[in-house]
Amino acid sequence: MQKNITIAPSIMCADLCNLEKSVREIEEAGLDTLHIDIIDGAFSPSMPLGINTIEQLRQITDMKFDVHIMANTNEFFIQEMLRIGVEQITFHIETSFHTDRYVNLIKKHNTRVGIALNPATPLSVLDYVLPQCDTVLLMLINPGFATDKGEKQVTYAAKKVEDLSKMIQSQGLDTKIEVDGRVSLDTISTLVRAGADILVAGSTSLFERSNRLKDNKIFMESLIAEGLNEEATING
Ligand code: DX5
Ligand code: ZN
Repeated sequence: MQKNITIAPSIMCADLCNLEKSVREIEEAGLDTLHIDIIDGAFSPSMPLGINTIEQLRQITDMKFDVHIMANTNEFFIQEMLRIGVEQITFHIETSFHTDRYVNLIKKHNTRVGIALNPATPLSVLDYVLPQCDTVLLMLINPGFATDKGEKQVTYAAKKVEDLSKMIQSQGLDTKIEVDGRVSLDTISTLVRAGADILVAGSTSLFERSNRLKDNKIFMESLIAEGLNEEATING
């Protein structure tokens, strides 16, 4: 049975001066998940969305909120997202002293939990916590630099996805692989073939300015199908 690949539009890449209009356009395109980046300005020199913005977004849509926390003080933002009510909370292991505690705190609130890794962070940090993760988010650019057009996807993106996929399969887990950062029309089929399940769609795919969002979605879906066919051929 073919895998189900989720397209998660990164709302920080939408028109932040017309957020509700952007959300409606995403809903009308038939997408059901929003990737919401919270960056504290310290973890990375960026701060696209605030807590109150997310709180107000929660009031206007039933889409699934896939929250990606990029912060030095994870617990505060985790508690705020639990208060607002979101479907998945992902935090970075690089700034977590108490990773196991945060994972349990999120799971206790019947919320999916993800751990995020910066590009250079080795997969071995997941050795003892992977079985508790619903999702592992692999950053494929240095976080917080989405708006810096000079920031390119790391050269080892597909290899890292492949290595994580093997790690998950070897443990018989159902953990999903989320890829975030320049998940572009050029890289989607390779990342899906490597094992990606959730594609954070930003400035180089869904919000690629030269086409309409709904046309970009159609392009993405054909590239996803291509990647799945190639993966099926490789894995038999
Ligand atoms: C960290 C963010 C971005 C964003 C996607 O900066 O997580 O990766 O969601 O940005 P693109 O797809 O435009 O690189
Ligand atoms: Zn993100």
